[in-house]
Amino acid sequence: MIDEPLVLGIETSCDETGVALTRGFTLLGETVASSQAEHARFGGIVPEVASRAHLEALLPTARATLETAGERLADVDGIGATAGPGLAGSLAVGLAAAKALAFALGKPLYGINHVIAHALVDQLEHGAFEGPVLALVVSGGHSSLLVVDGARVEQLGQTLDDAAGEAFDKVGRLLGLPYPAGPHIDRLARGGDPAAIAFPRALTRPKDLLTHRFDFSFSGLKTAAARWLEAARDAGREVPLGDFAASFSGAVADVLTWKTIAAARELGLDTVVIGGGFSANSQLRDLARERFGAAGLTLRIPAPRFCTDNGAMAAAAGAHAIRHGLAPSGLDIGADSALDPTRLVA
Ligand code: KG4
Ligand code: ZN
Repeated sequence: MIDEPLVLGIETSCDETGVALTRGFTLLGETVASSQAEHARFGGIVPEVASRAHLEALLPTARATLETAGERLADVDGIGATAGPGLAGSLAVGLAAAKALAFALGKPLYGINHVIAHALVDQLEHGAFEGPVLALVVSGGHSSLLVVDGARVEQLGQTLDDAAGEAFDKVGRLLGLPYPAGPHIDRLARGGDPAAIAFPRALTRPKDLLTHRFDFSFSGLKTAAARWLEAARDAGREVPLGDFAASFSGAVADVLTWKTIAAARELGLDTVVIGGGFSANSQLRDLARERFGAAGLTLRIPAPRFCTDNGAMAAAAGAHAIRHGLAPSGLDIGADSALDPTRLVA
């Protein structure tokens, strides 16, 4: 067997500075530093604060990863660093460090697509994809349905407005929950009845399916939830937090799983991978397990620590790019907040 490459992964698209080292799809070490606490009082990410935090955390994070893995920087065969989409300043910090390392080591650099990497990271946990897989990537910035077939990526659909995580964070804010509110709504929903409130399921009517078969929209649901809260408050009714959270989460999980199953059937794919920060959501995980099992689909979801942003995803994507013979990026690539969704390597 040919030795698998030693890949250094660097992820800085948002507020997590992640560095990981893999040997092919075997994770040897990873470290994540987060500036989340510094943004909490602003109710959202402050890009300048995030960029500065990456600058401070990156090399100590890389050093910690090399130490845990027991590997030397000089032995790295390739570097995968997130090139987009994400916050331009944050991406630039990680990419600049990656370029400097690639230049100094004389090793190839792969500018990684963050959205696709959210699906590829699952290979560290459940082994290499065998044949094409359908990928549902749901995060704070994206809700996308992709087909990943080796080096080829196709986008079937995406959100037309808010991402699933974004809708959770915005509704959570109305409930007075701290940012990011996703995990808090998840916790509240566990004690509630998902059928208590009939929230809308956007883009699921036959006429929508003609034009937006595999697209999502969560902004109408967010507005419906806000109106429901307002009406309850105006009427002096106490908000049943568990039922509200469960119905809201249930509506999101319902549409995500329903459209994914429809896509798998239409394309004849039997394996689905779900990734991205929002895939840590327990309502989505439970419903996906139940429905995909009933539909005869194999479901792959990474452990929650691989769902949110981390360096392992960039390393896994780098290893995937090497395995499938993708050309490395030039050292002149820029950070691209709007990177082509079908392009794994920038
Ligand atoms: O992938 P990620 O870490 O960053 C982006 O690339 O956007 O995703 C962060 C998003 C946030 O919106 C957060 O609220 C959401 O993922 N999230 C969750 C849960 N854990 C994280 N949403 C719902 N339930 C969760 N358990
Ligand atoms: Zn992400």
